Amino acid sequence: MTKKFYITTAIAYVNGPPHMGHALEVIEADAYSRFNKSLDKDVFLQTGTDENGLKNWQTAQKEDIDIKDFLNRNTSLFKKLYAELDVEYDNFVVTSSANHHLGVKKIWNKLVESGDIYKKQYKGLYCVGCESYKTEKELVDGKCPDHPTKDIEIFEEENYFFKLSKYKDEIFKLISNNTYEIVPESRKNEILEFLKNANDISFSRPITKLPHGVVVPNDPEHIIYVWCDALSNYLTGIGYGQDSKDYKELWPADAHIVGKDILRFHAAYWPAILLSAGIELPKKLFVHGWLLTNGQKMSKSTGNAIDPFEEIKAFGKDIFRFYLLGCMSLGRDGDYTRDLLKDKINSELVSNFSNFCYRTLSFIEKKYSSNVTTLHNDVDLIKKIKDKEEIIKELYNNFKFKKVLEEILNISQLGNQYFQSNEPWKENPKSIMVLTTCVNIIKDLCILLKPIIPSACDKLEKQLNLKNLKWKDLGFNLENHKLNKSEILFKKI
Ligand code: MSP
Repeated sequence: MTKKFYITTAIAYVNGPPHMGHALEVIEADAYSRFNKSLDKDVFLQTGTDENGLKNWQTAQKEDIDIKDFLNRNTSLFKKLYAELDVEYDNFVVTSSANHHLGVKKIWNKLVESGDIYKKQYKGLYCVGCESYKTEKELVDGKCPDHPTKDIEIFEEENYFFKLSKYKDEIFKLISNNTYEIVPESRKNEILEFLKNANDISFSRPITKLPHGVVVPNDPEHIIYVWCDALSNYLTGIGYGQDSKDYKELWPADAHIVGKDILRFHAAYWPAILLSAGIELPKKLFVHGWLLTNGQKMSKSTGNAIDPFEEIKAFGKDIFRFYLLGCMSLGRDGDYTRDLLKDKINSELVSNFSNFCYRTLSFIEKKYSSNVTTLHNDVDLIKKIKDKEEIIKELYNNFKFKKVLEEILNISQLGNQYFQSNEPWKENPKSIMVLTTCVNIIKDLCILLKPIIPSACDKLEKQLNLKNLKWKDLGFNLENHKLNKSEILFKKI
């Protein structure tokens, strides 16, 4: 059986509609998935929503809505957003499903069999925003630094505990030697530091405090901790515990994609659960930064939250995808404002890329009846572009979308300069050969940009009179070909 390439995003809480951070993560995952498909890998992308936990429950209570209606309403908004963004996912998990509950119970039983679950009286501080226990040291003025508007809750109750401490040394090794690779390096170092002193974790809540979630097997008085339940989605979503073909073809995951705030859960708790359950570890964890606005975290309470649906309506999905992927260096935060977006789009997507395509294709249409002939074999230019294509492949593989875009735009810039310096408007015998070379550059740009702006690249493919371009079609190989009608891809905002 051939192993498929399995990519996951975090599953989002549905205590509100999707926000910009959710849009960013799913766009990254989709671009990474499309890139791998372009390399002819058999890719499977899973996303979904996290429908359990205190956060969802408390919000539904506050809004006085039946929990099921509340979850369905918000989950459907996530699906709507992902459709508007052209995200091609293969599975959408919801953690309220019966299959998920069954799978989580199965995993829980494995942890029990390994002797890693025990009961103890516990008093602890809890941030509902993070769905996580906090130490005094982690709080700033008694509040969680990531959720300063929320009060910390004090829990004093009997809980089941999970022996994270038993696995910390083994995980430390597996992460140190990249068996489980954490990218970027700064996040790897952060988690290694955390693992040195990792303690056991509370893994359940009394049902009297949280009457919503997966019930502990053989103890209906307790609900399984939301992170144990949520992390398991990566297995239950592909049929773990059901003798499923999908599971056999997909696990271990090739890449989990998450934000920096949930590093600990994915790089400490998750591998510990898997080791305890005797399941292979995932291969890689990509950890992205946060999307901010004017340097500040977006939040409803500060009044600076930006609605992704509004932005897509205003600019269109491709521009939105292009901006988000181009505004963050791996591991760093990025900034979103409409002014920043306009500047970036006008200078990069419009003046550079779109103009190069239109000036070339419309010129051939007008002066040469849309026919290209043979290449003007400019060896230096072609070598430069081929070298850049190798670099871009490496950057895509390493999840460095900002750099990917910079290199792609450099190629487009080379194309513009080549067009300009060869003056094809003089219509001498060399002109159509120069233009043919430009068409080849445009074809390559189309392939390179397709994971980022798929819908615009579909249109460009039509103009080029080509179909289903993939990575293997890169290169200066298009000659004696007839183009379709040219159109402007992007206009100045
Ligand atoms: N439900 C958990 C994840 C469970 S995965 C087994 C959760 N949900 S979340 O809705 O809070 O976040 C979902 C993803 O969105 C996380 O990877 C998180 O880091 C990411 N983002 C949330 N806000 C973000 C930004 N402002 N910017 C970028 N990504 C951020 O955590």
